[in-house]
Amino acid sequence: MEKKITIQATRFDPEKDRAPRLQTYEIPFSDQSMVVLDALNYIKAHVDGSLSYRWSCRMGICGSCGMMVNGTPKLTCNAFVRDYWPRPIVVNPLSNFPVVRDLVIDIEDFMRKLKSIKPWIIRKQDLPLGAGEHRQTTAQIDDFRQFSQCINCMLCYAACPVYGLNDEFLGPAAIALARRYNLDSRDQGTRERLPVIAHSEGIWECSFVGECSVVCPKGVDPAKAIQQTKLDTTMRFVLPYGNRE
Ligand code: SF4
Ligand code: FES
Repeated sequence: MEKKITIQATRFDPEKDRAPRLQTYEIPFSDQSMVVLDALNYIKAHVDGSLSYRWSCRMGICGSCGMMVNGTPKLTCNAFVRDYWPRPIVVNPLSNFPVVRDLVIDIEDFMRKLKSIKPWIIRKQDLPLGAGEHRQTTAQIDDFRQFSQCINCMLCYAACPVYGLNDEFLGPAAIALARRYNLDSRDQGTRERLPVIAHSEGIWECSFVGECSVVCPKGVDPAKAIQQTKLDTTMRFVLPYGNRE
């Protein structure tokens, strides 16, 4: 007998609906490799073409398919239906973000925050190309490697109770990215990033719940980045050599 899986997905059109509602779909589940995104794609292709959600790579790289799956922030291309079956799977838009439609969230706030920490290598003086490469040792790359794995999926923001209460909080991924550049031996922009990350809505707003690191699908540890930045920032003010780049 063909197995079925029940998917309950949020439907919401802010121009027509007063509140979001759940719509139930029962679809075939025959393939052990089926992921929640496959289920949504099945619904879109065969049952209800009006269901809206984002995805692109289907391989845990682009970061666009993040949704709440049974209450937990997940990349839906990496959430296997077999891990939920035979229970129903409830799919909601990522928590803590405004909803554009159905399962699609508004990412403007996050994009603004990412830009605010200047996520690029800053040099006091740019050298001409002829001066050669900025070489790094493996140890120097290892300093920031894990923080560079972020795919901007925003699962950490959906898991963060502080961001849920205060959307001015700079948030886990932006701080982890700032840490990534501050730790890069080629970068000299720490002081330029300080006003944003050491602000009251920056690192000091974090109460170290740590869920950001738990839900991160790429092994980034934003909670660690925040604690390291708190320590560094404090040292800058108390040590005589602390303001060195
Ligand atoms: S830190 Fe992890 S959870 Fe947060 S945006 Fe980056 S990859 Fe996603
Ligand atoms: S579709 Fe790209 S990360 Fe899931």
